[in-house]
Amino acid sequence: RVLMPEDGLATLAEHDAILLGAVGAPGVPDHVSLWGLLIPIRRVFDQYVNLRPVRAFDGVQVPLREDLATGLDLVVVRENTEGEYSRIGGRHGTGDSELAEQTAIFTRSGIARVAHDAARRAAERSGRLTVATKSNGIVHTMPFWDEVVTEVLADYDLTVRFEHIDALAAKLVMSPGEHDVILGSNLFGDILSDLAAAVCGSIGIAPSANLDPTGVHPSMFEPVHGSAPDIAGQGLANPVGMVWSAAMMLDHLGLARDAALVMSAVESALADPSTRTPDVGGTASTDEVTAAMVSHIRTDLYEERR
Ligand code: IPM
Ligand code: MN
Repeated sequence: RVLMPEDGLATLAEHDAILLGAVGAPGVPDHVSLWGLLIPIRRVFDQYVNLRPVRAFDGVQVPLREDLATGLDLVVVRENTEGEYSRIGGRHGTGDSELAEQTAIFTRSGIARVAHDAARRAAERSGRLTVATKSNGIVHTMPFWDEVVTEVLADYDLTVRFEHIDALAAKLVMSPGEHDVILGSNLFGDILSDLAAAVCGSIGIAPSANLDPTGVHPSMFEPVHGSAPDIAGQGLANPVGMVWSAAMMLDHLGLARDAALVMSAVESALADPSTRTPDVGGTASTDEVTAAMVSHIRTDLYEERR
């Protein structure tokens, strides 16, 4: 059984963008469903920036002290094609001497290109960049990461802080507002994006963009959350992660006005208790929230045309 037809990547290559829903099913091992679809798309299309914005929305309850999260608006820039996610390694031996090894791959060009991207974003925003590392415990790849990132950042006028991933995890909870753009390796960026989304109330609303900034290949847009088999079919899933991802896609395609329209629908759905799914404190179903967003978009369009 395969996740994608043999010519799947060739078919996708002909398109301008890819909108992907969460993929997975009980009974299919994760490494099969993901290394057979999502991860090849990210790699073959050189989508080396995984952009994951996180915002606190009006009306969405946060698990932290309200004042810590109010107005939060940050973005995780996750390296998306190399690093800790590697197929190099294997399992050896049996019984008590059985062992597994996995080799992380960090290349100078891979680090530099994502660091440039994060630096440009930070320069366009607040000028603040946090770089996640773990060069105290991981002795080869992470010092190299720090070194290459530092070299790249020398060309930018930014306020930069390097934080070890463990301390950064704590700081994101204790004082999330201190961070604006956060750059992380593949694994660290993965973890931080869930953490930051949770700090803002729910992983159900978090979107992501897998970008090939060179424009050679299509970029891919998908919610950060997984397929959540535990709630499948119950109408409980929050559609916002998917819809916000679609807004990012519109933006990427140069349709900024349309993206703004969709985001305003997201904001208004989240602001109204009757159009929130349970993960963000409501009782509405997936369909009801979606219908509310669609009708908001229709109304806005109608008003624009008048
Ligand atoms: C994500 C997901 C994937 C990842 C998994 C499903 C392989 O967690 O997009 O954040 O780790 O990249
Ligand atoms: Mn993840």
